[in-house]
Amino acid sequence: MIHDPNRVYVFDTTLRDGEQVPGCQLTTSEKIEIARELEALGVDIIEAGFPISSPGDFQSVVEISKSVTHPTVCALTRANRGDIDVAVESLRYAKHPRIHTGIGSSDQHIKHKFNSTREEILARAVDAVKYAKKSVEDIEFYAEDAGRADVAFLAQMIEAVIAAGATVVNIPDTNGYCLPEQYGGKIKYLKDNVQNIDKAIISVHCHNDLGLATANSVAGLQYGARQIEGTINGIGERAGNTSIEEVVMILKTHPTLGLHTHINARNFYEISRMVSTQMRMPVQANKAIVGSNAFAHSSGIHQDGFLKNRENYEIIKPEDVGFPNASIVLTARSGRHALKFHLERLGHSLDKKELEDVYKNFLTLADVKLDIDDNDLLSLVAYRLVRQ
Ligand code: KIV
Ligand code: ZN
Repeated sequence: MIHDPNRVYVFDTTLRDGEQVPGCQLTTSEKIEIARELEALGVDIIEAGFPISSPGDFQSVVEISKSVTHPTVCALTRANRGDIDVAVESLRYAKHPRIHTGIGSSDQHIKHKFNSTREEILARAVDAVKYAKKSVEDIEFYAEDAGRADVAFLAQMIEAVIAAGATVVNIPDTNGYCLPEQYGGKIKYLKDNVQNIDKAIISVHCHNDLGLATANSVAGLQYGARQIEGTINGIGERAGNTSIEEVVMILKTHPTLGLHTHINARNFYEISRMVSTQMRMPVQANKAIVGSNAFAHSSGIHQDGFLKNRENYEIIKPEDVGFPNASIVLTARSGRHALKFHLERLGHSLDKKELEDVYKNFLTLADVKLDIDDNDLLSLVAYRLVRQ
């Protein structure tokens, strides 16, 4: 296959890594609804589940495979033949199936999770890829805990699984440990040292334990990865996964990176709310891109600058990510310019003196009432009229 070298593939794992969060479990029909919305968003790969883990997860992969057309549907396995058989079976209706198999790559995991050796782990990795390849062409391999793995051993593992037939190699920072330079450096090392690395797509899969998942993912892309894995709203194990909406908007906002995705960013707001509601996980108000305050301007200095020229305080247009609109929130920190803007919106054009009178009363009210709404503004105007 010929790849556009600047295209970044988007791999969504909301329904697998995201769904591992306690309390976020979904029914199969809820998962189908989200999968269809992910297809409308334009994601390239939907990781639909971990079929061996439960009959429900298996059935969800089957039903999602029937429900979407364009995206690749991916099923997770451990590096063993039993898991792979079940995953292959779950993908039988997928138009574009992918098996995502893998094993630990750090000495921590090799010794203390698998009680094994590097040699044995390498052999299991290769066997899993070769075995999966007999049933499915598209095989993604994950080197779990690659963030803490010895980079020379990681390179050896990645070289071996590409030779065994892996089409995508996933380099997870499973514990969200790396700094962006370290993570980007790992990807660069693989690019420079793994034979035939260009036969596979390098994928970044970062967790957010130190709040660096997005920064690490972008660093990985800068050093040659071309698939990014993440979830909507950044949900996921512990502190979560990379937020897809953040990485996509970083690439759009920084065209000098020269990278692009096929995502319809205008769908972000809607899918964010759908995932939040169905998974019962509120989106924090100050969450980048989709939080309720992401486009709300509340201090007087910012509001004044924004009203003079939106671009003074807006690097993304809210409508570009499907947000209803930017908001000028009236608080005790707001200035006359913001008040005037809202009064005009309500049909009241006041002269300087009139505005000054209303502004004084507005400040008194805003000190005691946190959310000033349109009714409050109309009352302030009416109050001024009866007092004059
Ligand atoms: O974080 C991780 O390492 C994973 C793998 C299973 C891909 O989720
Ligand atoms: Zn993960």
